[in-house]
Amino acid sequence: MNLNKIYNEDCRDTLKRMPDNCVDCVISDIPYKIIAGGVRIIYQNDECTGVLNKRDWSKTDPKGCLSRGKIVVSDGSNIGNKWLKKNSLDVPSAVKNGKMFEHNDIKFKEWLPDVFRVLKEGTHCYLMVNGRNLKDLQTEAEKVGFIFQNLLVWDKKNKTPNKYYMQQLEFILMLSKRPARNINNMGSGNLLPSQNIIGNKLHPTEKPVNLIKHLIINSSNKNDIILDMFMGCGTTAIACLEENRSFIGSEISEEYFEIAEKRIKNHISQTKLFQ
Ligand SMILES: C[S@@+](CC[C@H](N)C(=O)[O-])C[C@H]1O[C@@H](n2cnc3c(N)ncnc32)[C@H](O)[C@@H]1O
Repeated sequence: MNLNKIYNEDCRDTLKRMPDNCVDCVISDIPYKIIAGGVRIIYQNDECTGVLNKRDWSKTDPKGCLSRGKIVVSDGSNIGNKWLKKNSLDVPSAVKNGKMFEHNDIKFKEWLPDVFRVLKEGTHCYLMVNGRNLKDLQTEAEKVGFIFQNLLVWDKKNKTPNKYYMQQLEFILMLSKRPARNINNMGSGNLLPSQNIIGNKLHPTEKPVNLIKHLIINSSNKNDIILDMFMGCGTTAIACLEENRSFIGSEISEEYFEIAEKRIKNHISQTKLFQ
């Protein structure tokens, strides 16, 4: 097993090659369907502003913004052009089917058993998830043997529109593989404030490095091995490098894999420069 490496492949393949009990901690921002159906379009300054929500898109899209693949969300990121299923001329049905992103088809039960298997005993597993998918994720995780440990809340320090209360947090399900072990800093609270990245993101769901570092510090020690099955633009890898942990993981998208590789190389050369 090569350490400090992201494999550009389906995580199911990476996990299959990994031996039992070889990882000290799992931290992963996992894929899931992000909407149940439809998108509501509102208009601001002649631009379409999308709020995820059930509606007949054709009635709410008089300016044809959806069919042009342009949805602008309130934090200013243009998810329509960059991140919707690439080259899809059928944006409305992609939206209706919950396929805002290209790779979010994998089911929890397709990777959870192997994640449990590769973790050492007495370790922690952190999975980022939204409220809608939390129950299913916890159920599937407990089926494979994980113990529910806590529900952490990431306070994003920004808000996105939602007609059932503005969205300003994300959940992090904390699980453990028995025997239970304390976190390193037992004074830590389960509300984790960390400024969300706004504007030019490397990945549509890029997480702050500091947020991941907080979890790493609490659930691993120097030189430990951290697994992230869904690396995106490599945030977990950067957090590991900054905290002297080893990482291993996968990212199925060639685009984000390349961004992650470049980010890691830049980080290593910057660090060498200042040594
Ligand atoms: C929620 S994002 C993670 C973003 C990450 N937190 C970051 O800061 O960049 C989930 C990632 O999982 C990837 N993915 C989806 N299915 C996958 C699979 N079967 N194997 C590996 N990666 C997958 C997606 O391409 C996406 O980049």
